[in-house]
Amino acid sequence: MTLRLDATRLAGRFESVFGAAADGVWQAPGRVNLIGEHTDYNEGFVLPFAIDRTARVAVRLRSDSTIRLLSTFGNQGLTTVDARSLSRETARGWTKYPLGVVWALQQRGLDVGGLDLLLDSDVPRGAGLSSSHAIECAVITALNELAGADLGAGDMVLATQRAENDFVGAPTGIMDQSASLRGAAGHALFLDCRDQGIRLVPFDAESAGLVTLVIDTRVSHSHAGGGYADRRASCELGAEVLGVRALRDVGLEDLGEAGGLLDPVTFRRVRHVVTENERVLQTVKVLEGTGPEAIGPLLDASHASMRDDFEISCPELDLAVEAARAAGAIGARMTGGGFGGSAIALTPAAAEQQVRDAVGRAFAEAGYTAPDIFSVRPAAGAMRLA
Ligand code: GLA
Repeated sequence: MTLRLDATRLAGRFESVFGAAADGVWQAPGRVNLIGEHTDYNEGFVLPFAIDRTARVAVRLRSDSTIRLLSTFGNQGLTTVDARSLSRETARGWTKYPLGVVWALQQRGLDVGGLDLLLDSDVPRGAGLSSSHAIECAVITALNELAGADLGAGDMVLATQRAENDFVGAPTGIMDQSASLRGAAGHALFLDCRDQGIRLVPFDAESAGLVTLVIDTRVSHSHAGGGYADRRASCELGAEVLGVRALRDVGLEDLGEAGGLLDPVTFRRVRHVVTENERVLQTVKVLEGTGPEAIGPLLDASHASMRDDFEISCPELDLAVEAARAAGAIGARMTGGGFGGSAIALTPAAAEQQVRDAVGRAFAEAGYTAPDIFSVRPAAGAMRLA
């Protein structure tokens, strides 16, 4: 994992690389989704939180149309392109994310011209914690301010979604960027993906004697690949056959009838979305009532639904969840788009080491690559640092 450069050091590094001071430094976090998976593009409910791992960008607008991009990690070196001819075909590696944002703003009629940008990030990449959205959200927060565009959070969410969908090429929803832009310390973000309505729900695991462990299986995934798009297509087919605008409009009470109308696979995809929406609502109720110590069964049921009905888990994620539960976690589930990435395990602080050891041992015995295990807490959304 990369070490975080503070804002002063990042600005200093920027000046020595680009030969002029940055206009400022901005940051945006990655996210963990507590519950509500593959519900966002079905206009349903999600409950993610912004985590204490962030992407940070030092940025300077230029008076010409040159864009120069550099990161503190990887070996990509300096990328130089012209803002007037951005192309998703030629964009490489992490530069797709800032370039996608510049492109999406251009599509809205907002031409920010050229810029210099230095990126630093400690959001693990490829772990399903939205390292790409963290970059996009840091960049759009910076450009919105520097260009005086005055876009509200909802518009920035839609612009970064456009960047992901039409520039990066991943047909994803609005959950990740909403968490990154609108998250708040100590809270999960209850988001209605139909109208972008939000409510901040207290999620203070620590006070309840719990830690949220992330288990990065190191199985890499890409939502620009086939699995994610295939699930999305199944959901759209289900909505069409059932005659609704989106699966959000199907209730638990409709599932009996849906079973007679849909082919078995589409029915299981639909059942996941319908029951998952319900679990999000239940989780919000439990968090606002009893507290985090009572949400374990909902997390477990969510994982089972993704494993059996939506079929987006993998053996490593299932093992992480099972081993964590057996060693004392009160609830565990894969988080994010699936097909790899991370699981979360809500764990009593007293059992943390036991869970870490048990998961590590289980992976070693199965012959899997050792997982990366760390704790996260709900942190602030995107902001200016300097
Ligand atoms: C990815 C996407 C999100 C959402 C999740 C699944 O993280 O970026 O929009 O669809 O998968 O819940």
